[in-house]
Amino acid sequence: MEYSDKVFDHFTNPRNVGEIADASGVGEVGNAKCGDIMKIYLKISDDGIIEDVKFKTFGCGAAIATSSMATEMVKGKSIEEALKLTNQAVAEALDGLPPVKMHCSVLAEEALRSAIADYYRKQGKDPEAIMGCS
Ligand code: FES
Ligand code: FES
Repeated sequence: MEYSDKVFDHFTNPRNVGEIADASGVGEVGNAKCGDIMKIYLKISDDGIIEDVKFKTFGCGAAIATSSMATEMVKGKSIEEALKLTNQAVAEALDGLPPVKMHCSVLAEEALRSAIADYYRKQGKDPEAIMGCS
C-alpha cells in the first residue's frame, strides 16, 4: 500500500485539530465499517462564511489526513461551497488514497455535512429542506 507525501504530511502534522468551545455547529459521525469516529466543529459568521473549523478523529491515518485536508479546503469558504466538497475532491487534493482507504475519506465529508446540518438546526431551519439530508 502506498501513501502520497501529502497524506503522510497531513497524517503526521494534521491541521485544525481541536475543538471550538462556542461552535456554530458540531457534527459527529461514525464509520460503520471500522467503528472510527470523527467530530467536526464549525464557527460560521452571520453572512454564512466558515471562519474557523476544527476536528477530532479517533481513526486511522487516512481518516486523519482527509479530515485535515478537508478542514483546510472549507476554511474561509461559504456554507454552499463547503457542501459541494466531496470525499473524492479531498482525496485528489492529497494526491490520491489507496483504493482500500477511500471509504475512510467519507468520514470527513459526512462529519462536515452533519456539522452544517447542526448549524441550520440551531438557526431554527430545517437542514433536510436545505441540504436534502438530516
Ligand atoms: Fe477500516 Fe477504513 S474502515 S480501513
Ligand atoms: Fe476507519 Fe479508516 S480505518 S476510517
